[in-house]
Amino acid sequence: MKAETKTLYIDTVGCQMNVLDSELVVGSLRRQGYTLVHEPTAADVILFNTCSVRAHAEEKIYSALGRLARHKRKHPDAVIGVLGCMAQKDQEEVRRRAPHVDLVVGTGQLARVPELVDAVKQTRQPQYALSLGRADAGKDTVTASFESFDPPRDASMRPTPFQAYVRIQIGCDKFCTYCVVPTTRGPEQSRHPDHLVAECRQLAAEGCKEVTLIGQTVNSYKFDHGDGRRTRLSDLISRIHDIDGIERIKFVTNFPKDMTDDLLDAVRELPKAVKYLHVPVQSGCDEVLKRMKRLYTVGSYREMLQRCRDKVPGVAISSDFIVGFCGETEGAFQKTMDLVREAKFKNSFIFKYSPRPGTKADDLFADDVPEEVKKRRNNDLLAVQSVNSLDDHRSRIGQTVEVLVEGPSKLGEKQPAGGARQLTGRTMADHIVVFDGHDRLIGRTLPVHVREASPFTLYGDAETGEVGGDELTAREPAAPPRLSLPLV
Ligand code: 5AD
Ligand code: SF4
Repeated sequence: MKAETKTLYIDTVGCQMNVLDSELVVGSLRRQGYTLVHEPTAADVILFNTCSVRAHAEEKIYSALGRLARHKRKHPDAVIGVLGCMAQKDQEEVRRRAPHVDLVVGTGQLARVPELVDAVKQTRQPQYALSLGRADAGKDTVTASFESFDPPRDASMRPTPFQAYVRIQIGCDKFCTYCVVPTTRGPEQSRHPDHLVAECRQLAAEGCKEVTLIGQTVNSYKFDHGDGRRTRLSDLISRIHDIDGIERIKFVTNFPKDMTDDLLDAVRELPKAVKYLHVPVQSGCDEVLKRMKRLYTVGSYREMLQRCRDKVPGVAISSDFIVGFCGETEGAFQKTMDLVREAKFKNSFIFKYSPRPGTKADDLFADDVPEEVKKRRNNDLLAVQSVNSLDDHRSRIGQTVEVLVEGPSKLGEKQPAGGARQLTGRTMADHIVVFDGHDRLIGRTLPVHVREASPFTLYGDAETGEVGGDELTAREPAAPPRLSLPLV
């Protein structure tokens, strides 16, 4: 009889929620004896944790699944699974386009992955675990079918042991007309603050220094205790702030309309709160915002920006934009250009509109901006943002910033480990800094003197000092600035 192998491959696309989900799925399978491998064809369980926000992300997964059809014919014992947003939204299509898939598990059912993998192995029958659709039952029943997946953490599964995502909220109830998230992730639910504080305590005990609280509209977090008490995001941050060992607290992504004063006061007052806010505006034109059903105007967004900057001096703010949304005229787009020119975002994530079946926008409006125009608008907006990013970064030359060192930079990864090489980290305002230093600095917070700047990176020198009895800086100058494009 063939000995049972327990190897696992996972491919993750999409947002921080998916990165965390994959960390937790891998952790739960490792507890069942699985080891992680880096080639799908070397694994006996092959998982794809998927994203549905744009069509491109889905097509990449279908291509990857297509490439595995032959492998599955030759190795019928291999278990192939599709997890996450595509699984929840398109189970039928996944089955039709990739009939060799054995496992389809939605975002709200991930706790069942180990049990379902075993069931496939034992029965050789495909297994499906999905939450209810929004219209399948009453709100409470649908809500209950989306469970937040929060098993014990496994530090070895994180990109770095000293940084962790903490899911404080699942789902979304905003229903922006272009967006699939309310369908794929279900109704908005906030987790109990006591559980979150316990999770952060545990992370701190394992050496975690930075927690990033995640939710689709994280600043809408609220937990009603049932006795008249309510915990807001600001209250939760204050409680996490008291945990020894936690040095930095971040939170993403914010919804503009829910940016309350108590939250901004907490960010200003609490030294561990990162002075960085990601608050997507999506468009600089009121008519477009209305068609997107974003629930605010450009004027009220501008007021919110001003309030953030008044209340939290020096705060860095970033945004997301969708270009080429239905009915976006050249005039409407120029209003977005004006907003980006003036708003001085730290950075902007720019996306070309991708119509998503099942969304209101896809039902109601024509995708009438040609692809070429979307591309041009994307590049134009990026160019304006790059000028601002460079100005902002240049204004920091000569300053000394506190950097939490994350690991080798892209260049450093190609240099020998264990000695001095190029490292990367972030400031308290989320700016990326690279500098030369010894690997033992990874995971520490240290002062770095900024010497050079590109639109996306600050280049500096770790300030010479005694940390762990060793001199910090390498003598070689850091690599010259690279000009790279941001994530789009
Ligand atoms: N097309 C393009 N971009 C989208 N986003 C969400 N839905 C779509 C879509 N259908 C973008 C928004 C959001 C980010 C995570 O993805 O800018 O803030
Ligand atoms: Fe999507 Fe809008 Fe919810 Fe963000 S707030 S996840 S864009 S529906």
